[in-house]
Amino acid sequence: MGGPAELRRLILVTLVIALIGGTMALVGCGGDESSDGEASDATMLWDEIRGHNGWDKAPGYRSMQPAEGPHGDQVLIFVNDDMSAALEGTGETEWPVGSIVVKEFFEQGDIIGMVVMEKRDDGRFWGSYSPTGEVYDSGLDLAACEDCHADGSDGVLGFSLP
Ligand code: HEC
Repeated sequence: MGGPAELRRLILVTLVIALIGGTMALVGCGGDESSDGEASDATMLWDEIRGHNGWDKAPGYRSMQPAEGPHGDQVLIFVNDDMSAALEGTGETEWPVGSIVVKEFFEQGDIIGMVVMEKRDDGRFWGSYSPTGEVYDSGLDLAACEDCHADGSDGVLGFSLP
């Protein structure tokens, strides 16, 4: 049985642990917010494209095509319903907000990565991933992607607005 001194020690130790825990939680939280909100946007986008293998393929990409871009030697391009609907329309001057296009790229038949563009109301969001969803690069109007894609059809190079 511990005496009052031992009890005080226990309370002190508990307090110190609570304090350290609290501080770590605070630091952890702050870290998350400052560490690139765009990285978590990219993770959310990855979740949205999980089912992309069941999406429509882009015009001209019903089967694997030789890559003209910097990614891999062959590519497959998928579009979500919003983009697919826009492609069936006429006279669109922009992809509707919510449009997503996914390019899988291959090297000698093996998938080596995926790149994605999502049309948002604040611009074009770009993401580059490993085949398992590790984020390599991402961002809104990302210069590394816009360098080429700004010349496209509202950002798209492989096919055009209808
Ligand atoms: C050197 C020019 C170049 C750069 C830089 C580039 N791309 Fe592309 N991208 C292309 C070309 C060309 C295509 C057409 C398909 C193909 O042949 O690969 C394409 C296709 C795509 C597509 C399919 C939709 C479309 O436009 O046809 C996506 C999505 C994409 N790129 C994402 C990205 C992302 C994300 C980045 C930046 C990390 C990026 N690209 C950087 C040239 C480029």
